[in-house]
Amino acid sequence: MKKKLVSKNKLKFETRAVRDGSFRSGANEHSESLFLTSSFMFDSAEQASNRFSGLDAGMIYSRFTNPNVQMFEDRLASLEEGDACVATASGMSAVLSVCLTFLKSGDEILTTPSLFGATLQLFDNVLKKFNVSIKYVSLIDLQEWENSVTKKTKIMYLETPSNPLNQIADLNGIARIAKKFKIISIVDNCLCTPAIQKPLNYGIDLVLHSATKFIDGQGRVLAGAIIGKKKLINQIKTVVRTSGPALAPFNAWILFRSLETLSVRMNAQSHSARKIASWLEKNASIAKVFYPFLESNPQHKIAKNQQLMGGAVISFQLKNQNDLKKNYLAWRIINNVKIFSNSANLGDTRSIITHPYSTTHSRITETFKKKSGVNHLLIRLSIGLENTNDLISDLDQALNYRESDT
Ligand SMILES: Cc1ncc(COP(=O)(O)O)c(C=O)c1O
Repeated sequence: MKKKLVSKNKLKFETRAVRDGSFRSGANEHSESLFLTSSFMFDSAEQASNRFSGLDAGMIYSRFTNPNVQMFEDRLASLEEGDACVATASGMSAVLSVCLTFLKSGDEILTTPSLFGATLQLFDNVLKKFNVSIKYVSLIDLQEWENSVTKKTKIMYLETPSNPLNQIADLNGIARIAKKFKIISIVDNCLCTPAIQKPLNYGIDLVLHSATKFIDGQGRVLAGAIIGKKKLINQIKTVVRTSGPALAPFNAWILFRSLETLSVRMNAQSHSARKIASWLEKNASIAKVFYPFLESNPQHKIAKNQQLMGGAVISFQLKNQNDLKKNYLAWRIINNVKIFSNSANLGDTRSIITHPYSTTHSRITETFKKKSGVNHLLIRLSIGLENTNDLISDLDQALNYRESDT
């Protein structure tokens, strides 16, 4: 195995995205090989023993070491400007892995209702069974975060921008509180990716990803990742190694290549989303548009401070029409778009339209839906790489569609 290059931030993001983490087998292939093997051979019994004891860093077994997974981890760690990364089978297994690593019975997670639906369910329905308590505060209210810390608080967990409402937390402020009380701060950076925002540079302890989204970028594989200081990542790696939510080598191989185009995609998709968000804001049937870089977003100054771009996710709330049934208005639009895909995913090159209330957030309680602002009039868009004007025309005809038109 030839030595890999990890440039340790000396080169620019785009160069690191294409060059870092790579290693070659003896054939010296240019495009990195795919290592579809569950285990690795040892040259001797002594070497086997040294690998298990950690004296020799070579490969052992793909539940905990695989060249493709390592390549992906090294490249993503470089892009997030962290020391180390651990990859997992999905975003949710990354969330579960940090919880298994840093929490025990009697501990508390301090978090916010402005979270992805499954994360809320994992906290509320699963972790509570193990006597872990969950305290919810407003994502954007630093004073409430600080006032809510108790001796039991072990983790501060948030997404910024949040899914689906694009609320923005002040990363500097969150990191300051976490450090003051010696709590581990974790930011799900799924909507931005390191091409837009690098939470570790603001003092956040761990960055978490659903790599299924913009990191893959083409809706092909499930994956998750956690990046941060070696000491914390090694603790998580031990849990992943023994509990088994390992990333498959094939998925890692796909994602490693996806990172090469991350910057180009995020640039183009954010640029398009910014235009579409401004266009939506002028539409008479829309009450509110949620997009980080719109001046109407109450946290847009914080967003501009910590994000390079606005990202590719937009949510908008339709004006209420009391005489119409719940969900009817949003579903009519979703059923009548011609280019947008009706799917629950986001972060694809193909634009996606979603009704969070009846899909991604349908299993959370009405109280939580209310607290997180997810109602039946809300639509989420994930903007892809299609022509911006085509997407605007598609939304325009769907927003204007009436049954009487047919
Ligand atoms: C913000 C966020 N975090 C985590 C996840 C979970 O990721 P996965 O579906 O890869 O398990 C999602 C999925 O939509 C998400 O949107």
